Amino acid sequence: MNLSCYDSNFFEIEDKAVVLFCYKAEKPSGDILQKIDILTDGAVSQMFESGEFDGSTNSSMMLHNVPEIAAGRLILAGLGDEKEADLDAIRRASGIVGKMILTHGLKSVSFYYDGSDTNPVVSAIVEGAILGSYRFLKYKTDDDKDKNDITAMSVVVPNKTKLKQAEVGMVRGEIIASAVTHCRDLVDTPGNDLYPESYADHAKQLAKELKFKCKVLGPAEIKKEKMMALEAVAVGSDHTARFVVLEYNGKEKGKPVVLVGKGVTFDAGGISLKPGLGMEEMKGDMTGSAVVLNVICAAARLKAKINLVGLMPLVENMPSGRATRPGDIIGSRAGYTIEVINTDAEGRLILADALDYADKFDPQAVIDIATLTGAAQFILGYAGAPFVGTSQKLNDNIRAASERSAERVWELPLWKDFSDLMKSSIADIKNTGGRPAGTLTASAFLKKFTKDWPWAHIDIAYCDVEKSGLPYVPKGASAFGVRLLVDLITHWKKV
Ligand code: BES
Ligand code: MN
Ligand code: ZN
Repeated sequence: MNLSCYDSNFFEIEDKAVVLFCYKAEKPSGDILQKIDILTDGAVSQMFESGEFDGSTNSSMMLHNVPEIAAGRLILAGLGDEKEADLDAIRRASGIVGKMILTHGLKSVSFYYDGSDTNPVVSAIVEGAILGSYRFLKYKTDDDKDKNDITAMSVVVPNKTKLKQAEVGMVRGEIIASAVTHCRDLVDTPGNDLYPESYADHAKQLAKELKFKCKVLGPAEIKKEKMMALEAVAVGSDHTARFVVLEYNGKEKGKPVVLVGKGVTFDAGGISLKPGLGMEEMKGDMTGSAVVLNVICAAARLKAKINLVGLMPLVENMPSGRATRPGDIIGSRAGYTIEVINTDAEGRLILADALDYADKFDPQAVIDIATLTGAAQFILGYAGAPFVGTSQKLNDNIRAASERSAERVWELPLWKDFSDLMKSSIADIKNTGGRPAGTLTASAFLKKFTKDWPWAHIDIAYCDVEKSGLPYVPKGASAFGVRLLVDLITHWKKV
């Protein structure tokens, strides 16, 4: 897509369609909308009065051949109440417009914006429009798949003084949106094409393009590192494990923030086989690692002033004659023995070794993100992701990033009760703690493998897939966490 910014009078913008954002009101407000109302003999007033379009959030209206407007179509995009309208209202409105441009096959659109905060607003416009019009077409061969793709998008501001800010916002918006769409592509890619080896190759390729470090540990190196918990998950599959280490240095010195992402390319459950219904969704059990990979890509492209390490433990969890059995006792890199009660609780096993490996980097903080527990569904439903953490400052940073990015997370307690439920009578720890508080017993398991650095764990099970479609999150992989973590690392406050 060709993105551009320029300054122009609204009426002189030439394009297939021009977009004007409108707040909810009883009658048209603002110089431009009022002028359009006069030019259309009160057509806009009538729409506002009848409620057909009144600037409500998530509403839009397309008008053709409006007199004195150079563009072929005028799209009015509602932002809702002016008092409540925030950046996310812009993202949602732009998402709806992006989808509209796509379904109408218009291919090209210009957004006009003359309000304040040009830089973040333009970023939100670009994010919303790109993300709202996202489709996953890699496997479609039977229709003209690129026919309607949006090829050009412009953001137009009223004067040269706002242009610089708009350009900065546009670049940032494009980088964030690409990280999200690329993450969605990976998550939607099925397990027959995305498995540890192909996934690690892909990470290597990206690192080469964007010039950050990428090291891939194969089976022999994983054995040398004594990552026995990771190996215990991988043994059931014909695809061997990989452990990907990414390093981005945006600062001369300073301890890195380590991001760890669960990378189960397909989770059949192992010998504790999952029920067949819905099992196909488990191709998305690598979302955490795809988030980490793309956050590092975004950091590199944004030249973020922070040092980052990304760890991606990659395995496939399959049943076979070689698979780990329920009841088996396995080792771990940290030295603890683990009684495997349920082979479907595999995410925590691979994360345990990755968290222990994180200590190598003398981190200032470690954050892991994982589609870890089905029980997360019963905490916040689909509305947000529960998280836990050992440092109030880090937790506050995460909450602040959540508010800015509108990717919602909510903190839960790390009480000792949950660790008690993970005690094994014959090993150092067991991998499941029963049905109650499943998300928190899993967290307590992970905590055992952390050191005294600030640590947080975000459980994105169920947030990783959007079931019905939102303005800028179409049905399918949501890539939840990319915008949250990009925001976090670009607004990093010492913890
Ligand atoms: N990948 C699943 C968790 C999951 C379930 C993510 C549904 C997204 C949607 C994880 O590996 C798992 O199977 N967890 C088990 C743990 C249990 C055996 C303690 C679960 O949640 O049922
Ligand atoms: Mn599982
Ligand atoms: Zn899993």
